[in-house]
Amino acid sequence: MKKILAVTLVLCIAAGFAFAGGGKAGGSSASGGSTFIGIAMPETHVQRWVKDGASLKKFAEEKGYRAETSFGDADQSVQNRQIEGFLTQGAKVLVIGSVNEGVISAVASAAQDKVAVIAYDRIISNSADYDYYITFNNFKVGQFQGQGIEQGLNLKAATAANPKYITLFAGSPTDGNAFFFYDGAMSVLNPYIDSGVLKVVGPYPKTSKDTANFQRIATENWSGPIAKTRMENLLNNDARDVVLDAVLAPNDTLARAIIEACLADAKYAAAGKLPVTTGQDAEADSTLSIKNGRQYMTVFKDTTKLAEAAILLADQILKGQTINIPGATLASGDLLSIGDTGKKVVKAYLLEPILVTKDNWQVPVQAGFYTPEEEARLK
Ligand code: BGC
Repeated sequence: MKKILAVTLVLCIAAGFAFAGGGKAGGSSASGGSTFIGIAMPETHVQRWVKDGASLKKFAEEKGYRAETSFGDADQSVQNRQIEGFLTQGAKVLVIGSVNEGVISAVASAAQDKVAVIAYDRIISNSADYDYYITFNNFKVGQFQGQGIEQGLNLKAATAANPKYITLFAGSPTDGNAFFFYDGAMSVLNPYIDSGVLKVVGPYPKTSKDTANFQRIATENWSGPIAKTRMENLLNNDARDVVLDAVLAPNDTLARAIIEACLADAKYAAAGKLPVTTGQDAEADSTLSIKNGRQYMTVFKDTTKLAEAAILLADQILKGQTINIPGATLASGDLLSIGDTGKKVVKAYLLEPILVTKDNWQVPVQAGFYTPEEEARLK
C-alpha cells in the first residue's frame, strides 16, 4: 500500500499536481492523516511565537494533517536547515514565520519541490517563489501605538509652550513588519511633532524611509537586552536633563525591557511615574503590567485566530479549493503593498488588531487567548 502511495505521489509530482494533494490531504482521517505540514517559527525569546507554533500544530492535527513545529532561535541558517528537513520529510505545505530575508533560498527549494509556502505574520521579501501571506493589518498596529500615546499624553490638549517628551524605538530592521509598525505610529505622532507639542529626544526618523536614523532606533532581532541597553544609554545621555513622558516601543518584549531600565533610574522612581510606553502582542506579562499601571497599552493580535486561518488556507490550497478565509480580508487598494515582496505581490490575508489599555485589558482574556496558568496570573 505504502509503495503504491509512493509511486502515485511521484507520478502526481511529475504531472505537476502536487498541490492538489488528492483525497489524502488531511480530512477527517482518525489515524491522523498522512499529509505533512511543516511549521517553521522564528524564535522563542518573544513569547508569542511559542503560542503560535503550538496553535498551528494543533489546528493542523485537528484537520487530520501530520504537523511539526520548529523554532529558528532567531538564526536564519538554523531555520533554513529546519525547513530543508521538513522538505526531506515530504512536507506538502510550509507555514513560515521567517527570521529574515535569508529564508528565500529555502523557499526556492520548496518551490522546486512544488511545495506551497505560506508566509506567516512576516512577509518573505525578495522572493517570487510563493503566493500566500497571512498577517494582521500591521500599519494599523502602528497607528494604535501612536493613538495610545496620543491618548496617554492627552496630546490633543497639549501645547507647544508645555511640550511632552518622547523617545522612539523600532523593531528589527530585518523584519518587514517593523517598518509598517513604525510608519503607522508616526502617521499619528508626526503632526504633534511638527507643531512642537511633542519633542523627540534622541534620533528622529520621520518615517522608516530615513534609513540612517531608522537604523539608530531599530532593535536587531527584537532583542530585549539590546533595547534595555539602548534605553539605559538614552537615560544617561540624550534624556539626562528631561523626564520622558512617553516611549514608542514596538512590542511587549521591548516595552518590558525599556520599563525595567526606567524603573532602575532614580529620576523615574522619584517622579513616581513611568513614561507612557506602548507595546504589541498582549503577552501575559505585559497585560499584567498594563493592569498594574506600568505599561500603558498593547495591541492584541489574536494569533490563535491567525493560526487557525493559516491552517484553513493550507487546507484549501492542498485541496485545490477556492480560497475563502472567514475573518480575514484579502489586501487590495492601498493595502496591496503589504503583500509586495519586491519581486511580486502575493495574496495577503489580513486580520484585525485590537487596541488594549487598562480600560479593556480583559479583552484577550475573554477571547481565551491565555493558557490557564497565564490566566491565573492575570486574576
Ligand atoms: C511580529 C510581532 C512580534 C515581533 C517580534 C513581528 O514580526 O509581528 O508580533 O512581536 O515580530 O517577534
